[in-house]
Amino acid sequence: MLDAKTIEIIKSTVPVLEVHGQTITKTFYQTMFKNHPELLNVFNHANQRQGKQPAALANAVYAAAAHIDRLEEILPVVRGIAQKHRALGIRPEHYPIVGENLLAAIKTVLGDAATEAILDAWAKAYGVIADVFISVEAEMYREAEEKKGGWRGFRRFIVDRKVKESEGITSFYLKPEDGQAIASYEPGQYITVCVKPEGQEFTHLRHYSLSTAPGHPYYRISVKREDAAGDRPAGIVSTYLHSRIGEGDVLELSAPAGDFTLDQTKDLPLVLISGGVGLTPMVSMLETALQSGTKREIVYIHAARSARLHAMNDQIAELARTYDHLRAYTVYETPEAGDSSDKTGYIDLPWLKTVAAADSDFYFCGPVPFMKTVRRALKDWGVPDERIHFEFFGPADSLEDTLS
Ligand SMILES: Cc1cc2nc3c(=O)[nH]c(=O)nc-3n(C[C@H](O)[C@H](O)[C@H](O)COP(=O)(O)OP(=O)(O)OC[C@H]3O[C@@H](n4cnc5c(N)ncnc54)[C@H](O)[C@@H]3O)c2cc1C
Ligand code: HEM
Repeated sequence: MLDAKTIEIIKSTVPVLEVHGQTITKTFYQTMFKNHPELLNVFNHANQRQGKQPAALANAVYAAAAHIDRLEEILPVVRGIAQKHRALGIRPEHYPIVGENLLAAIKTVLGDAATEAILDAWAKAYGVIADVFISVEAEMYREAEEKKGGWRGFRRFIVDRKVKESEGITSFYLKPEDGQAIASYEPGQYITVCVKPEGQEFTHLRHYSLSTAPGHPYYRISVKREDAAGDRPAGIVSTYLHSRIGEGDVLELSAPAGDFTLDQTKDLPLVLISGGVGLTPMVSMLETALQSGTKREIVYIHAARSARLHAMNDQIAELARTYDHLRAYTVYETPEAGDSSDKTGYIDLPWLKTVAAADSDFYFCGPVPFMKTVRRALKDWGVPDERIHFEFFGPADSLEDTLS
């Protein structure tokens, strides 16, 4: 437990560090990767270059420090981050490395303002925060391993089938190489792929939501190819999976993780809204809800640019024909000749009101502009936060910045 003096120093210096937040974390990452280049095997380089992860980590450390005397209040947030850490294989021995380099960065950026007492207080506070993460993650590693069909770390899976779903999205059906059982998962969870494409110096880790209901002898992920466009380089892992990985190849995966999951205890109408490749967790949730035998009304809305880029359309149309309590809608941004949809342009509140009820449980996932529009519409409609659930395909923290 921290003493009162330390807590006081931490609370009074959080605002100071927040002012220098970005500078401190940039300095921190630069020195940490210089001293420990092996950590470039776990950090996402694109997020680093775009400043997304530095912002996420900085904000999390300050938020935790601001709650240093009542860390239990931020445990749900810690769990969400810990899920990602567990999926990436972050270990207790990594924490002192982050701690030392963060302290050194605080010292460099604050200069003379960083007194012995301040540095000492932050070293202690970081130790307390790190211990919370380490113990939450230890429990998650244990759960993932002890679950039926579960495992620790990365396990080898063979690509059993590779199926094109639309112009940009391809599904990979993955079976364990050892032929043993695989862990079940909650609809909405993701697995993490570890690859080392030819010519790349480091391994690259990426999360992919599972895109079917659980209960199969395989995992299915559906990946959008991130091609180069203008100044933007091609995505490393998605293009590697699309162009280099085929049936019979091996991919290493960590066990399913994530806290964006379908609450199946509710009987309110369920509204699943996706944009582009954000349909992956929604399809898993939809299939699971239908298979559960629930009679709750389900509205499935998918937004795509046009029919060419619309994945799993036939599968969803078939489900809508089979289940009376499912209604499926399509929104095309720029339909092409012959495309048919329920709406063109973007999803908006007046249209949403014609297909769904405000008194529903809403889940959504998609690109940032889409997420902004949907969240704004739900807020304007008066849907309370506890019935708004979303997943963001990037560092969660950067979403708050971009959505607000
Ligand atoms: C929980 C979760 C679930 C996910 N589920 C799915 C899923 O089901 N399906 C799916 O397809 N994806 C999913 N993702 C996204 C996925 O993890 C990857 O982020 C995605 O495949 C891109 O990875 P990449 O290696 O191809 O691109 P990266 O190399 O990581 O690059 C990411 C993007 O940044 C751009 N970029 C790279 N460098 C720069 C730069 N210097 N300046 C500007 N732009 C740059 C790239 O062009 C690319 O568009 C999920 C992510 C999360 C967090
Ligand atoms: C108390 C200390 C730590 C805090 C508060 C913290 C916080 C965070 C946060 C907020 C995220 C973003 C989560 C998201 O994507 O939604 C994150 C991701 C991540 N963290 Fe940590 N972290 C800590 C320690 C560590 C350590 C010790 C390591 C390993 C060296 C680590 C490695 C990573 C990696 C690799 C990611 C994924 C981000 C990416 O590659 O873009 N973290 N962390």
